[in-house]
Amino acid sequence: MEERSLHNPVLLDEVIDFLNPAPGDIIIDATVGGGGHAEEILRRISPGGTLVGIDRDAESLKLAQERLNPFQDSFKPINKNFRDIRKILEEIKAGKVNGILFDLGISSIHLETAERGFSIKNAGPLDMRMDRSQGISAEDLVNDLSEIELSSLIRDFGEERFHRRIAGAIVAARAKRRIKTTAELAEIISSRVPYRYRRQRIHPATRAFQALRIRVNDELASMEDALRASPGVLKEGGRVCVISFHSLEDRIAKNVFKEFAAKGVLRILTKKILRPREDETLTNPRARSAKLRVAERIA
Ligand SMILES: C[S@@+](CC[C@H](N)C(=O)[O-])C[C@H]1O[C@@H](n2cnc3c(N)ncnc32)[C@H](O)[C@@H]1O
Repeated sequence: MEERSLHNPVLLDEVIDFLNPAPGDIIIDATVGGGGHAEEILRRISPGGTLVGIDRDAESLKLAQERLNPFQDSFKPINKNFRDIRKILEEIKAGKVNGILFDLGISSIHLETAERGFSIKNAGPLDMRMDRSQGISAEDLVNDLSEIELSSLIRDFGEERFHRRIAGAIVAARAKRRIKTTAELAEIISSRVPYRYRRQRIHPATRAFQALRIRVNDELASMEDALRASPGVLKEGGRVCVISFHSLEDRIAKNVFKEFAAKGVLRILTKKILRPREDETLTNPRARSAKLRVAERIA
């Protein structure tokens, strides 16, 4: 399950080895977030290179811009959903690129800012929208979906075996009053899962929170669209790196890469997924669930 530190971009050495950024290159960081990977890429493509830095979260992008200010001539911030990657490149007339990075999910900025509503630990409103200009929040889903819809959502996007119990608990609680905060929801879920489950390393609400977040932000469909568009925007020899944090994302990356490899468009460079080295997980326990897949455009 995912939690990240602003100061430690996950699998940084491995991503840099695969992308091998050189002066003059054009690279897309589709998930700029705190700008950790972006900063190292910018250092290596300067002078003369361009980093197209996408993030659908305007606030994160603004912070990244401040951090990356020393590279402002090479950094092109884009506040959009990466699922429109092809259109974004056409609009800025960037041509084909040498590399693309997807470091999926939410950032430490999201987790540490209680009012964004992603965190189980920091109580805040049940929001979870990465793009706060978009409509539906987690509060809407929790209070408006039927019990069956909630149960399927928590099963499919959270891979949570107690999905029925949790959906039942939510429906019982909201009959008394609207559920509005992350703390209320976390407590409702905790109180209904078996006792031994409450004592595991991860909070018992982690999977249900993940499910809501994925649905609020339509994360899996966005990711699949973007990955399918990626080979079309890569130069021959260009590489796409995907860092995922749960099996639903990883499965999509694996299947899309396989499909394009079978068509002779991509060559898969990570026959086995790459995981962080032990020293990284020791210094950054938040990297524990990360998986990296990389493919190269061959035709
Ligand atoms: C894990 S963080 C990236 C951290 C970054 N690599 C770093 O080193 O600081 C993921 C970022 O991707 C953004 N994001 C997630 N899905 C997105 C999408 N579909 N389109 C654009 N940005 C997205 C999130 O808002 C978040 O800021």
